[in-house]
Amino acid sequence: MTDIRHFLDIDVLPSGTLNDILTLGDSEKAGKAPFGDKPLAGKTLALIFEKPSTRTRVSFEVGMRQLGGDVVVLDADSSQLGRGETIADTARVLSRFVDAIMIRTTDESKLLEMAKYATVPVINGLTDQSHPCQIMADLMTIKEHKGRLDGLKFAWVGDGNNVSASFIHASSKFGFSMDMACPAGYRPNQGMIETANVDGGKVRMTDLDSALAGADVVVTDCWVSMGDEDYDARMEALAPYQINAKTMAQAKDDAIFMHCLPAHRNEEVTDEVIDGPQSVVFDEAENRLHAQKGVLLYCFNGLPS
Ligand code: CP
Ligand code: NVA
Repeated sequence: MTDIRHFLDIDVLPSGTLNDILTLGDSEKAGKAPFGDKPLAGKTLALIFEKPSTRTRVSFEVGMRQLGGDVVVLDADSSQLGRGETIADTARVLSRFVDAIMIRTTDESKLLEMAKYATVPVINGLTDQSHPCQIMADLMTIKEHKGRLDGLKFAWVGDGNNVSASFIHASSKFGFSMDMACPAGYRPNQGMIETANVDGGKVRMTDLDSALAGADVVVTDCWVSMGDEDYDARMEALAPYQINAKTMAQAKDDAIFMHCLPAHRNEEVTDEVIDGPQSVVFDEAENRLHAQKGVLLYCFNGLPS
């Protein structure tokens, strides 16, 4: 066991800790600064990107600077990771220079290897299997628009991908239910759903009409994630799952539409929905900054007593 405060995945953190991190993010957004003015002065975060990013990179860089700290950004192509230096050696070296490491990578095993060998906190900035920082921002956004999470019905529509997995993890921690409509071949791992449900989650696979009926929150994501190669097969299988004005109208009248972005407009969602009055996608993007400031404060400083 280690007492390092990593932020690896939502399913491995207690709901109390996750709620406290969200509260820290809310406080930062409200300008209340629970740890004072520049609590991370003198601290450095390494940001490792083995995949592209706009929101994750900018929100972590801006968030660290607002908290008084600094960042070092490494891309796979311009670091020795791209030439085969192991994750384990990279973790041990970076731990001598920086105070925390965020990594966006391919397989989750690489994230876990980083955490195993680092002697500083490691933050998951997306893997093929999960995207917990995104879901913290999404939960903050839903609370802002709906006033609560407990008892809400979410509809996940489309590809059962890394973002959907972190929503599945969150269902067992925050009391919402999630109906998932995904075509055969693109459904999330059934074992992961069963594990979440044993832990208190309320997730089920269903058809599109049932998922949307009575939904408070409608969520989708791109049909081809970074690293996916079966573009044509995905387009064909996922086409019936587009969120457009007709499908959005099947949810509650006051349902909100969410998408982690980047969107592939007029594939998984039409312009009229993503630019329409029910869309909260840019609040969601902004909240990456605030929610992650909560994550950073937790990893560097712990939770306020
Ligand atoms: N949503 C998200 O993680 O966006 P980026 O890929 O731009 O970081
Ligand atoms: N599912 C997408 C999320 C991008 C933020 C991907 O992994 O490419």
